Amino acid sequence: MTWFDSAADAEKKLSGSGYLADQATATTTYLAGALEKPLLVEGPAGVGKTELAKAIARSTGAELIRLQCYEGLDEARALYEWNYKKQLLRIQASQGDDQTWSETHDDIFTEEFLLSRPLLTAIRKETSTVLLIDEVDKTDVEVEGLLLEVLSDFQVTIPELGTITATRRPMVLLTSNATRELSEAVRRRCLYLHIDYPDAEREHAILVGQVPGIEEKLAREIVDTVTRLRALELRKAPSIAESVDWARTLVALGTGTLDQATIDATLGVVLKHSSDIDRAVRELKLRQA
Ligand SMILES: Nc1ncnc2c1ncn2[C@@H]1O[C@H](COP(=O)(O)OP(=O)(O)O)[C@@H](O)[C@H]1O
Ligand SMILES: [Mg+2]
Repeated sequence: MTWFDSAADAEKKLSGSGYLADQATATTTYLAGALEKPLLVEGPAGVGKTELAKAIARSTGAELIRLQCYEGLDEARALYEWNYKKQLLRIQASQGDDQTWSETHDDIFTEEFLLSRPLLTAIRKETSTVLLIDEVDKTDVEVEGLLLEVLSDFQVTIPELGTITATRRPMVLLTSNATRELSEAVRRRCLYLHIDYPDAEREHAILVGQVPGIEEKLAREIVDTVTRLRALELRKAPSIAESVDWARTLVALGTGTLDQATIDATLGVVLKHSSDIDRAVRELKLRQA
């Protein structure tokens, strides 16, 4: 499967599905497909890391399989587990028969008793698939060990069944907010992309694309203000998601311009900590104290 013909083709297809990629994103996305290499995407929250995987799936007609990482995620949730209850029932049911234990054993470690989780499911898909391993920095470092076989060989080994290798390699995206350093072993196997806040022009285009009915001028004002806010040292800088929310809010309120009173009333859409709001007010003189 060729995912994209070129970087320009990636940019075009992604943009067709509503994702506006910069040059580096389009190029790396193209390469990940062409080289069949997993892609590690890092960057602050809300800059479009998860959305990139979704947009790749949308724009290529591939299925998206998502493994959401969290603290305590284990093999049984990420790869596969045996359906113990069903195995137990089978053992009980076969007690009347003359089956030997080894026959029963062979019986209950088969496909029928296997519960497939996202990594195994993606490896076994025969149709084109994007595997999103989201927020990998939230798991414990041991989970990275589980990922290595998938990332380097596109295979999963189940002791009782053998090694299952992808017949059709999924496009794999890992995302991270860099709250923890990922292991060198994982990094080595991936292409790397850092996504940061977009430049003003691209953010403007994202707002216009995602918020029906927004006026050019209002979109500019939002982008300018959000850019200024990002330059402050805030606990949580506003991301693209927040500027989109802000734009939707202002359109819903029927506001044509971002004046002092409007900012006053709606700053809570963009900043989510009272200390950030205080700082914004103080340093940008966004509203009267
Ligand atoms: N390049 C982009 N083009 C269009 N929309 C984008 C882009 N980047 C981010 N967004 C918007 O920002 C929102 C948040 O992005 P998301 O992928 O969830 O961020 P994160 O980097 O935290 O995974 C998305 O739902 C999408 O609406
Ligand atoms: Mg995300």
